[in-house]
Amino acid sequence: MTVALVTGASTGFGRLTVETLARRGHQVFAGLRDIGGRNAKAAAELTGLAAAEAIELRVVELDVSVQSSADRAIATVIDAAGRIDAVVNNAGLIFPGPVEAFTAEEAQRQFDVNVLGALRVSRAALPHLRRQGAGVLIQVGSTSSRVTIPYSGLYAASKAALGSLTEAWRHELAPFGVESVIVDAAPYPTSIGANAVMPADAARMEAYAEGFGGFVTELTKLQSEAPADPRAVSDAIVALIESPAGARPARTVVAPAPQRDAIESLNAAAADAARVVSADMGVSAFLTL
Ligand SMILES: NC(=O)c1ccc[n+]([C@@H]2O[C@H](COP(=O)([O-])OP(=O)(O)OC[C@H]3O[C@@H](n4cnc5c(N)ncnc54)[C@H](OP(=O)(O)O)[C@@H]3O)[C@@H](O)[C@H]2O)c1
Repeated sequence: MTVALVTGASTGFGRLTVETLARRGHQVFAGLRDIGGRNAKAAAELTGLAAAEAIELRVVELDVSVQSSADRAIATVIDAAGRIDAVVNNAGLIFPGPVEAFTAEEAQRQFDVNVLGALRVSRAALPHLRRQGAGVLIQVGSTSSRVTIPYSGLYAASKAALGSLTEAWRHELAPFGVESVIVDAAPYPTSIGANAVMPADAARMEAYAEGFGGFVTELTKLQSEAPADPRAVSDAIVALIESPAGARPARTVVAPAPQRDAIESLNAAAADAARVVSADMGVSAFLTL
């Protein structure tokens, strides 16, 4: 039985992941922000599910944009379970639109949740994982960080940063017996669209109206014809949690076959490049690919 904390578990991939993990017999802590307010309903549903099915699923308050909240959530897990085996850095949101339309403050909010959120939660958890000599950080990334398309530049940049953190953690934590991996997902229908934050600058948006409008039309056409099942992503996260230590790949791509194959080729080439570059720098022994 694994003890797992999943951030952003009110909806989407996070919600599916906590429900699946708990039903499979794991001890699961569902991180939700604002349990007393915006997520009161989701918290009550999860608590109700735990009681109805007699599964180990507990809701913990966790706003990833606040370090003290991350610290308290990890302390709650350790107090209750005595250890923490898996941290799923899933909480995230998207600021879609042309890069120029966003202010630096808006960009900061995009990075604060998607990048620094994972940093805060991991920083709180890692002393425990290192002490245990075991455990895994699982980040939820995006295929848009591997192949950049227009109108999601801030989001793609945040997920690229998350990918770099994941790889650095992987190298740095391996000597402690701790793993770090990322799941790069293609677009799936969750609440991410409803929660999207558009740029406030209407004038700059207007300048891009034609291109952005056409892009959104084309992008949503395929998705509405054949909606993908977000369970593909939560199943991949669950499979990583249940994999034996040392057998987890650095990057897992969850996407329709042509996209997945193309990005897996890119990932293999990037790993080859890392081998060459690290050997040339004389630091191969410090890398875990
Ligand atoms: N769906 C996709 O197409 C897709 C593709 C690739 C990657 N992803 C990534 O997958 C992850 C999950 O997204 P999703 O698609 O499942 O969307 P979602 O249904 O909107 O779920 C996002 C979750 O993140 C939470 N969250 C946002 N800000 C938070 C904060 N400051 N503290 C704690 N929780 C916070 C949300 O909580 P609230 O309910 O309180 O807002 C919600 O539970 C995200 O990192 C997203 O970038 C999604």
